[in-house]
Amino acid sequence: MSATTYSCRRPFVRDSVPRPEREAFAIPFPRDQGKPIDIEIGCGTGHHSIVYARHHPERILIAIEHTHERFGKFKKQADRAGLPNLIPVHANAISWIAHLVPAGAVERFFLLYPNPYPKDRQRNKRWHAMPFMSCLLDCLRPGGTVTLATNELFYAAEAQEYMRACWELDCIQYLELQGARESVAHCRTLFEYKYLARGETCYDQVWVKPSV
Ligand SMILES: C[S@@+](CC[C@H](N)C(=O)[O-])C[C@H]1O[C@@H](n2cnc3c(N)ncnc32)[C@H](O)[C@@H]1O
Repeated sequence: MSATTYSCRRPFVRDSVPRPEREAFAIPFPRDQGKPIDIEIGCGTGHHSIVYARHHPERILIAIEHTHERFGKFKKQADRAGLPNLIPVHANAISWIAHLVPAGAVERFFLLYPNPYPKDRQRNKRWHAMPFMSCLLDCLRPGGTVTLATNELFYAAEAQEYMRACWELDCIQYLELQGARESVAHCRTLFEYKYLARGETCYDQVWVKPSV
C-alpha cells in the first residue's frame, strides 16, 4: 500500500473534538511524577489495566473506557485493588487525549481488542485509519510503543499496512496467539480469553515510533 492508497492523512482537527464531560476533564494528566506514563484505550472492565498496574508500580497507567456499564465494573475493581499508579478515566478516549495529553508525554499506548468495524464503509472508525492516530502519535514520545491486539485477521493485516505506510512506525513484534487458556487470569483481557476459548487466533502487534 502506498501512503495515499487510503485517505490516512486526513487532518485531525483538535478544536472540532468535543471536550470530555466535566468529571473526566477534571482528571489532570499526571505530569512531573518521575514515572513513565502509559495509556490503555478502551479498557473494558479493566482486567489488563489492573494486572498491568499491579506488575508495574514503577509506571503510571491511565485506563480509559467510555461505556457506563464496563467502566462501572472496572472502577469497582480498581477501587478494591487500591493501586496508586492506576488512573481510571470514564471518557471517550479521543476527547480526553486530544484535550488533556501533552505532546511526547506517553511511553506506551495499548489498544487491546478494539471493535473491528468490519464493514467497508466503517474503515474510518478503525483506530489505525482514523485521523486521530496522528494526535495519538504526537502524544507518544520517540521510542514509545503502540500495542494493538485483535482476533480479526483482516484488521491485523490492515493495521500492519497503515502503521508502516501511513504512520511510519516500525513493527517490533508480531505474534499469533492460539489455544484456549485455563482461565481469564492466564490472558491479558476478557476478550482475549473469549476469543482463544472459541479456537480463534489472536494477533498481537507492537509498533515503535522511531527516534529522530
Ligand atoms: C471489544 S471491547 C475490548 C475491551 C477490552 N480491551 C478487552 O479486551 O477485554 C472494546 C472496548 O473499547 C471501548 N471503546 C471503544 N471506543 C472507545 C473510545 N473512543 N473511548 C473509550 N473507550 C472506547 C468499548 O466501549 C469497549 O469496552
